[in-house]
Amino acid sequence: MDNVKIPTHVGIIMDGNGRWANLKGKERSFGHKEGSANVERVVEYAFNRGVKSLTLYAFSTENWARPKKEVDELMRLLKIYFTKFIKKIANNGIRLKVIGDVSVLTPELKKVIEKGEAKTQNNLEHTLNIAINYGGRQEIVHAVNELLKDGKQITIESISKALYTADCGEPDLIIRTGGEFRLSNFLLYQGAYSELYFTDVLWPDFNGEQLEKAFAEYGARNRRFGKI
Ligand code: FPP
Repeated sequence: MDNVKIPTHVGIIMDGNGRWANLKGKERSFGHKEGSANVERVVEYAFNRGVKSLTLYAFSTENWARPKKEVDELMRLLKIYFTKFIKKIANNGIRLKVIGDVSVLTPELKKVIEKGEAKTQNNLEHTLNIAINYGGRQEIVHAVNELLKDGKQITIESISKALYTADCGEPDLIIRTGGEFRLSNFLLYQGAYSELYFTDVLWPDFNGEQLEKAFAEYGARNRRFGKI
């Protein structure tokens, strides 16, 4: 376990909460609650293991199309998570950053996000990006518009620097739980050369052991970045 290569920046598409709950004969919201508890466990495990930055896909621009009850529950869980984060996790050297268009979130959720980000802005050890109302295409459009506004040139480099995750570098590894094989609009630009790891394990069951499997496979890959 000790000579495992640990990726610097890991992105995770946390899929399968609903199916996890249904398999147990429970409502989807039960899966999101357990999924949320799992975020706490996996964040702690990954950072203790030496991952520098984590980017977690919590709510996509497409997720608004879910029933209102489910959207409300996810927003409620996010608020609880950030509140807990401010109280307990903020002192662990983790900088919190919410990425995506937060302008449409409720004032209460926005407030707790702002507080969490402000309180942790000088933490340098790790970065935790939580993607909310996030879409990879929207992120690229946002970055280009920012550059145009500032009269800057549009280049591969300048776009990279204007992305939400610019400070963390590109993700070395993107993990998707829940058995689907797609990116679903996650980190499209910065993920150009990321290693992709797909697992059938549903998000609430994705634990440290599963993360080690992903790291082991990542370490065995030959990253050529288009070269030979
Ligand atoms: C996918 O499962 C998961 C989501 C759409 C939301 C992810 C949210 C969490 C893990 C909880 C809250 C997040 C944080 C950061 C505290 P799904 O509902 O698509 O499951 P299914 O594919 O089985 O239907």
